[in-house]
Parts: sequence; structure tokens; C-alpha cells
Amino acid sequence: MSNFMLKRRQSLPRPTPIDSEIILNKKDFIVSRTDLKGYIIYANDYFIEISAYSKDELMGVNHSIIRHPDMPKLIFKILWDRIKAGEKVFAFVKNLRKDGKFYWVLAEVEPARKGGEITGYYSFRVRAPRFALKEISKVYKQLLDAEKLGGMKASQELLDNFLKSKKLTYDEYIQKLFKRGFGFGGFLRGFGSVFK
Ligand SMILES: Cc1cc2nc3c(=O)[nH]c(=O)nc-3n(C[C@H](O)[C@H](O)[C@H](O)COP(=O)(O)O)c2cc1C
Repeated sequence: MSNFMLKRRQSLPRPTPIDSEIILNKKDFIVSRTDLKGYIIYANDYFIEISAYSKDELMGVNHSIIRHPDMPKLIFKILWDRIKAGEKVFAFVKNLRKDGKFYWVLAEVEPARKGGEITGYYSFRVRAPRFALKEISKVYKQLLDAEKLGGMKASQELLDNFLKSKKLTYDEYIQKLFKRGFGFGGFLRGFGSVFK
């Protein structure tokens, strides 16, 4: 990364979150791609529009620039563990815009490969269904509270027990929540056609 990018990253201020939601268009995807360290090297026009940052501001920074304080750390741990192991992962994510407003997505994050080698990561995101958000925001609040009291170990335990009570794996739970809204098959087909 250039010195220019590093300098700029350090000086980008953290927006103060405000309780105002931006709802994504049903048919638009937010797409981004990173290098191996997670620095953004590509953002589509819709990502730029929705994040309210300029393309120049987004290039070379980590996605944590849009991390919302309501997001439990555990979700990003699951995300990074999975993609570093070469697997894809789905997650509901509440993101913070430059103006402090927020937007919810269902994100698919996965490794980008060249000749079998992982060369970076990319993410496709769609609008998250409303009823799924009702449930997931409650779950995230509980995970966040657990993290404040007992760190990541506590929120991991809470999530494990929650999933156990539902007799579902993490993937099955996310899939079930989304499926009830739009139909997961259509979502996956839509994702598959963007980069592959
Ligand atoms: C391809 C890709 C897409 C990501 N998308 C998001 C995102 O939309 N929102 C977000 O908060 N973090 C996203 N992350 C995770 C961030 O890199 C980071 O781990 C997270 O924001 C937590 O930030 P922190 O490590 O500063 O706590 C993404 C990571 C990758 C590799």
C-alpha cells in the first residue's frame, strides 16, 4: 500500500452513529474485493453510493471503516476464520455509513483464487429481509452484551448454546432466516453470476 493510502487511512474520522436506516434497493448488489490483508482494492458503484464514501476514500482501507458498533466481534471472527480456511461464509451485517446512518445486508464473503492459491477476498451483499433483521438484531444485541461482560469466549458460548437449542449449525441458521424471506436459491444464483 502506498504511503498516501496509509496516511489517509489514519486520518479518516470515525462517524458518530445515528439511529437512521438506509434501506437497500431490492435488486442491487454491493460488491467489494480485498487483498490478502483485507484492504479494499475494488468497490462497485453501489457500495460507493450506499457507504457514502468516495471511491478514493474506500480504496486501500479495511472494511472496518464501515463497522457498526452494534456488530458483535464474534461475527467477524467467524468470517475471518472461515475465509482464511478457504471457505465461504454468509453473515447478516449492520454497516455504518460515512454520515453515521446504517444499512443492513446479507453478505457472502469468500476467497478469491488464482491457480488454487488464495489471492484475496471478495464480498457480495444484498438487502437483508426485514423479518430476519428483527430476529438477528436481538441475537446480536445479546452477543454484544455477552462480549462486554465476558469477551469473545462468552459470546461464542452464547451463540453455541443458541444454535444447539435450535438444532442448527451457524450456516443452517443464516440460510433458514434468509430463505423465509426471499428464497436462498435465487440469492445464491444471483451471487454466482457476478464474479464467476
Ligand atoms: C471481503 C470482505 C468483506 C468484508 N465486509 C465487511 C463489511 O461489510 N462490514 C464490516 O464491518 N466488516 C467487513 N469485513 C470485515 C472487516 O475486515 C473487519 O474484520 C470488521 O469490520 C471488524 O473490524 P475490527 O477488526 O476493526 O473490529 C469484511 C472483510 C472482508 C475480507
